[in-house]
Parts: sequence; C-alpha cells; structure tokens
Amino acid sequence: MPSDMAETANIRSLSPFPEGWYFIGAHRDLQKSRPHAAMWMGRKIVAWCDDRGDICVAEAVCPHLGSDLSPEAGTRVVDGQLVCPFHGFEFDVTGQCVATPSGDPARSARLRLFETCNIGGLIFAWWGVGGREPQWHLPSAPPNDGDWSDFELRTVRFAGHPQETSENSVDIAHLSYIHGYDNVTSDAPVTIEGPCLESRFGFSSTRSIAKLGRLSLRVSAVARVVGLGYSYVEFQEHTIGMDARLWVLATPVDGTLIDLTIVSSVCELREPKRPIAGLKFLPWRMRAPILNKFVADFQIQDVKQDVVIWSRKHYVPRPRLVRADGEIMKYREYCAQFYPEVGPCKSATR
Ligand code: FES
Ligand SMILES: [Fe+2]
Repeated sequence: MPSDMAETANIRSLSPFPEGWYFIGAHRDLQKSRPHAAMWMGRKIVAWCDDRGDICVAEAVCPHLGSDLSPEAGTRVVDGQLVCPFHGFEFDVTGQCVATPSGDPARSARLRLFETCNIGGLIFAWWGVGGREPQWHLPSAPPNDGDWSDFELRTVRFAGHPQETSENSVDIAHLSYIHGYDNVTSDAPVTIEGPCLESRFGFSSTRSIAKLGRLSLRVSAVARVVGLGYSYVEFQEHTIGMDARLWVLATPVDGTLIDLTIVSSVCELREPKRPIAGLKFLPWRMRAPILNKFVADFQIQDVKQDVVIWSRKHYVPRPRLVRADGEIMKYREYCAQFYPEVGPCKSATR
C-alpha cells in the first residue's frame, strides 16, 4: 500500500458509536398516543411519553417473546403504557411490565432502557460504551425568558460520523472556503474542560432573502461541543441586533449513516438596529419566528454544502495542517475520551 494510503483511513475506521448523549427527538413531537421508533446507535429503539410527559427510550424488543415494539408492528400507547402487539404485555415508562392480559407479569419482564435527559424540550439518551452508566451530563438549557421563538428543526441524513461533523466547530478555515463567509476570525483559544469544548469565532456573511433583499450580517459565535452528539452555538448578529441559538445534533443511525439535526431559535426583535425591508411592517412578535425560519434554512443550506464533503471524505488521523487550520489537533485529543477502552460490549442499557 502506498504510504499516503496507509495514513488515510476511511471514516469508518473511527468507531461509529462514540460514547455520549444523542438526540432522540423534540418532546413536542413525542406524542402521547403513538410510539416513536427509530434506528439509533445501530439498534432499533422505541420512545414514548406518558400522560405526565415523562419519556421512556427503550430497545424496541419485547422481553416476553421478542416482538418488535415499533408502531409499524402494531405497538400502541394506551393510558401512558406501551402495549406489545404480540400478546398485549403493557410497560410503564420505568420499563417495567405492569400488566398482561393473562395474569400477573414476571418482575423480570422489563424493557432495556436508555437513560434520558430533557434539555429545554430536546430529548437525549445516553450511549455508554460497554453499557457504562452516564459519565457526565449535558449542560442545562439556556434560560427560557419567554423572548425566544419556538424551535425550528431540520434533519439531514447522510453517510458520516459525529466526530467529523463536530470538527466544523474548530475548522475555521472551511467557513470562508466552503460557505463563503468573509472576515473569519478566531476570537479566543479553544478551551476544553472534561467533555466540554468551547470555540469562539466571528464572520461576515451576505445573504439574499426573498422579499427581504440582501442582508449583510456580522456575527460573533460561541460554540460549545459537549460530546460528539451535542453542539450548542450562540450567535450574536451585530448590525441588526439579532440573537440566535442553534443546536447541531449528530446522531449515528446504523454505523454508516448519521442524522444531523439543526434546531434553531431566534430572540424577539423589538427594535432592530437597522431597518430590514419586508420586516418593518410586521408586528414585532412575528419577526422572530419568521427570522428563525430563515436562520434554519441558512443553516441547513450550509450543512448541505458540508455534506457534499462529509459523505465522501476519509478520516485522516495525521492531517498535514497549516497555521490557518486552527486547533484541529486539540479537538482530536478532546475527542479521544469518547472512545473509552472498556471490556466487551454489554447491552448498553439500564
Ligand atoms: S412478545 Fe411482547 S407480549 Fe409477547
Ligand atoms: Fe460547515
């Protein structure tokens, strides 16, 4: 093998399921009447919500005789309990089987659960390598002071890896080359504390928006990566005076594909620093939701530019960097903690 090839590993040479918290869905989308099934971290899971709003995320396999617990197989949620379509065993949100049509359930009849957390209405579940319990927690949601628009969510699925997508937060050079941003600046050294990495940068961008004309923006961003499934970015736009929040949530599906979900929210804009054509006649309460749709669309356009690269790239363990690349190797060292060496994989559930 040529030496260059020896140093070039396909992205799959990174373990596809690094340890961390990974997105399940928005609480508002987890209905009380229907279970939500998905491929997540290489296995099928089912999630549902009881009447109190408590969420359960479990492997979608019935411990009785192995029925699939997806709605496609006929699984239902009745009075907050998940009901298996095969013999009607009922499970509460602790995973315990609490009733069967034919007698008392065995105490050992339990679903295999994943630990969950709710960050401001976004539900995550813990993936522990070798079945480990959560080793750290996600930061609490930013303050909900009532001035922020509802979330916009957009998801793109492609062949990729969460380490590669999160690397964007320190890969300052690609912002101008791929996304066409100007005056890109690194505003502070990258800092790392346990599972949290913080990167601060700024850029200018000009966007054409139907009805709003061309908008020239100057943005300061603070990106906080907390494990490879969770990045949270705060944007301050200085010329209009708009604040936006963005979550970038990479979730491995099956070992090859990942779902990248962008969640955005914009703060109400009562007194823009400058007039924005098309917005000034709108009541101020309508401005943030409309701007938020634009923010979500911009972000997903940017993501799609990255996907062209991500879905075809190789993972290069020893990249030949230049000064302008910023702190990519520091990021790679940070990432190592999410691939702990532990014993043979248990079922990774509680
Ligand atoms: S397989 Fe689920 S109740 Fe029998
Ligand atoms: Fe990017």
